[in-house]
Amino acid sequence: MSTDVNHAAKAFKSYFGITPLLAARAPGRVNIIGEHTDYNDGFVLPMAIEHDTVIVGRPRTDKLLRMRAENLDLNAEARLDARVRNADQPWTDYLVGVADELFKLDKPVAGADLLVMGDVPVGCGLSSSAALEMAALVFFEQAGAFKLEDAEAARLGQRVENNFLGLSTGIMDQFISRCGRENHALFLDCRSYDFERVPVAFDDALFVIANTACPRGLTASKYNERVRECGQAVDVLKSMLGKGGAKLRDYELADLLDVQEYLEDVPFRRARHVITENARTLEAREAMRAGDAESLGALMNASDESLRIDYEVTSRELDVLAGIARELPGCFGARMTGAGFGGCTVNLVRRDRTASFCDELLRRYASETGITGEVYISAPAAGAGSVALQSAS
Ligand code: GLA
Repeated sequence: MSTDVNHAAKAFKSYFGITPLLAARAPGRVNIIGEHTDYNDGFVLPMAIEHDTVIVGRPRTDKLLRMRAENLDLNAEARLDARVRNADQPWTDYLVGVADELFKLDKPVAGADLLVMGDVPVGCGLSSSAALEMAALVFFEQAGAFKLEDAEAARLGQRVENNFLGLSTGIMDQFISRCGRENHALFLDCRSYDFERVPVAFDDALFVIANTACPRGLTASKYNERVRECGQAVDVLKSMLGKGGAKLRDYELADLLDVQEYLEDVPFRRARHVITENARTLEAREAMRAGDAESLGALMNASDESLRIDYEVTSRELDVLAGIARELPGCFGARMTGAGFGGCTVNLVRRDRTASFCDELLRRYASETGITGEVYISAPAAGAGSVALQSAS
């Protein structure tokens, strides 16, 4: 756990004047490979990271949510009987959105005083929003004395994004935030929700996350556009091949090439990315199982190229950062991670080269872009859960 829950409890007491009774946490994630595949019912291979969001709080007897975001130094209130978005304080939407979906499931959701604190970098492709949703869910589960099954918990978080926030995102971020395990990545089939925890056990390599420090622009509209373009490709595949497949997951590259002449260039390339990325993710699982950093790195590089050329979700800064990484000694592979359009890269780096890799990466990135980037080194972390508070003082 990276955020100090007792620090959060103190901050809660100093703001609300009472001691918190409950605490929950959930991690951010980095996706190793399997990008923009989840909403196509495909495969993903993320791991939870040692950056998390903590919520401490105290249930109330009424329907009021009094919320404080300690990092932002912001406070807000929401009525649980109204459950509307707050354009001025969008961070509250994740909390109210989780409550809203719980109401739809007829779960007991009472009001609460709660404080949010964390260290998941925001807006960088490391899923700070999923961490907030999953921490909120654990908080409400504790307060209401119920527990959702893990896949249902992740789907609830996805519905918050889809219904409350209007983003057509898939299930990856919430799933890994809920189900992560220390020292393991998670291979997930986003159709069946079958998953396998794959040990991250390279003798000589580790993951380095590098942040372009560039805020993601217009992500929501471009993301939803990609979802639609995948749908267009499926429509053509379905009607031309006469197969029933409802998602790109159901098609092979040969199917796509068979219908290429009936597809516009853009949906063709989007589909080619998704179909080949699913294949790479299955291969990456094998490489991880075998502790084969060379093979995994090569797959990460190929994924990045496909995201840059076919899916067009990288940015100049992401391309510069990944390009420099690949030229540095000890780098097995580098790729953008998350939705894209800015944010972070993930790099697989030889352990004994890590320090020089990080220094040189940041130095050359700054000299080429004028921007000061950041690096984070994280072992795979545990998923969401409750946290014990020190006895009230
Ligand atoms: C965002 C979404 C995920 C996934 C990734 C891209 O993180 O929330 O569902 O689609 O983008 O792989």
